[in-house]
Amino acid sequence: MIPQGFIQDLLARVDLVDVVGRYVQLKKAGQNFLGLCPFHGEKSPSFTVSPGKQFFHCFGCGAHGTAIGFLMEHRGLGFVDAVRELAQQVGIKVPEESVASAQAGGRVKALTELLQRAVDFYRQQLRGSEPAISYLKGRGLSGTSAARFAVGFSPDEWTPLAAVFESYSDAQLVEAGLVIENEGKRYDRFRGRVMFPIRNRRGSVIGFGARALDGSEPKYLNSPETPLFHKGRELYGLFEAHEAIRRKRRVIVCEGYLDVIQLAQAGFEETVAALGTAVTSHHVGQLLRLSEQVIFAFDGDVAGRKAARRALEAALPVVDDTRRIDFVLLPEGEDPDSLVKSQGAEALAAEIGQALPLSRWFIRSLADGKDLATAEGRAALLAEAKPLVSTMPAGALRLQLLREVAEVARSAPADVEALFGLKPWRRLPDQRRAENQRQSADAADLKEHILQRLLAYPDLAAEFESGITAEILHGETLIDRQIAEVWRTATAASGLTCGALQELLAESDFAEHYRDTATKTLLAEADVEASRIELAGAFAKLELRRLNTELESLVGQQQPDTEALARIRALAERRARLMAGAVAEVRGGDVAR
Ligand code: UTP
Ligand code: MN
Repeated sequence: MIPQGFIQDLLARVDLVDVVGRYVQLKKAGQNFLGLCPFHGEKSPSFTVSPGKQFFHCFGCGAHGTAIGFLMEHRGLGFVDAVRELAQQVGIKVPEESVASAQAGGRVKALTELLQRAVDFYRQQLRGSEPAISYLKGRGLSGTSAARFAVGFSPDEWTPLAAVFESYSDAQLVEAGLVIENEGKRYDRFRGRVMFPIRNRRGSVIGFGARALDGSEPKYLNSPETPLFHKGRELYGLFEAHEAIRRKRRVIVCEGYLDVIQLAQAGFEETVAALGTAVTSHHVGQLLRLSEQVIFAFDGDVAGRKAARRALEAALPVVDDTRRIDFVLLPEGEDPDSLVKSQGAEALAAEIGQALPLSRWFIRSLADGKDLATAEGRAALLAEAKPLVSTMPAGALRLQLLREVAEVARSAPADVEALFGLKPWRRLPDQRRAENQRQSADAADLKEHILQRLLAYPDLAAEFESGITAEILHGETLIDRQIAEVWRTATAASGLTCGALQELLAESDFAEHYRDTATKTLLAEADVEASRIELAGAFAKLELRRLNTELESLVGQQQPDTEALARIRALAERRARLMAGAVAEVRGGDVAR
């Protein structure tokens, strides 16, 4: 691995404006630079580069990242090569042994090479296999499509790959998922099947989907989870579809390998498929960053409806008000592949034209099997909707969806909101509970703000150790864990820009969320000084909230003992100091209530 310290040094010396400026004409606009986005076709500039943050973002297509990310995406370089190129531009040397070990680190690279050799072999085998060729022809696939997706064929023998690799007993063949070892015997995993190589976003083969020719089970055999291949993260066809997705600003998500190829052949090159598993939030989030519209087009059967429902559940936590998610529900018995094959591209285009927006599909899917003419049916719908709606980020779409749910449930929107615990209900009998709910919602907002500021100005992190210790580290909510991680990372180094911090956090489970949050701060330019004051204010408000809650419970005791009285005094003093100090700087003094 390349040491993180080196990456930091490198990013501290590189100027993103120069790096991007080699490929994109940039013009100064306020504190940022603007240009035509190199990642999608546009006529008016929405590609923004922040020199202060060392971070870019395109408000048209959503591309964003650091200097390293820019080179990877724009030049199609791997991480190591992008780092090398940057180092060369500023005239510093990448530690040699780290390059060797990162590249040889090599297990990944070795496995990738094995898989690529298997792809070449399977493709060559396809040329000589009459049954496989006629099968693919029968399915309507052109030779061009087969080449574009590197379709191949695995001969129906026990060890075809023994002819390809020097040593069939190499443990890496098993690790790559190509060979199975069973009671001391080894044989090929894929035999007598049409082979669909699965590529990652950089175009390297990471696994296979393999279809039986003769109706044997399973119909599709997929690579197992390997160091390279994680089903919940990869999408079939994304590498091939990438350019079309950017250009058309939309992506079609189907269920099957052949759907992807058939649709691409019919002119819908923007098509991908989840890999024999359900669509995950990770998938949807990834696609929403690439495009403005995600269209799910699933089979018109029970399994297809189920998949569409799972896709809905995966989409809810990552929806955002500026992007669209639509659902095409095909007629019973059709899948996108069969529809295009029998009725042509126009038929699919028409179905897409009538797709249900997420909110409609939500209601339709929840109403399914319930009698909404009865109070019981409507209550069941509300009960089912509650956990789903509560996974959605607060925003205009959630509001609209709540309205629609309220309408079909014949309830007032405010009642539904209260029922879902999204906003306290003024008439709620338990005033205290309502107040607590409001407080924790406010605390979440404050913490969201803290996270944003720390990501934008990592250098400020060191100044807020006591606040972090008191308000964050003992917390267990997601946002607490995120702030803690960002704070630890930011304080472990000094002189970090926003972009350099993003690189250090790139392996985090929350990396995507951090990138999005950093992106949000690009336009709302608060300077360091303002951010420092905001952070101080936010921590003070959190502390006040905590003091107030504790005071309330102490004061509420029937007979406070001396210890409790002393504690009350101490808390009250601290509260007075806080209110006189930091809070004076912060607008909107609702803390004093
Ligand atoms: P389908 O059974 O709908 O397959 O499964 P399909 O794509 O229409 O296949 P054809 O047209 O009969 O060739 C949809 C997807 O589910 C996964 C595969 O990814 C498949 O493309 N699947 C299906 C499996 O992983 N294993 C199976 O046994 C079946
Ligand atoms: Mn099919």
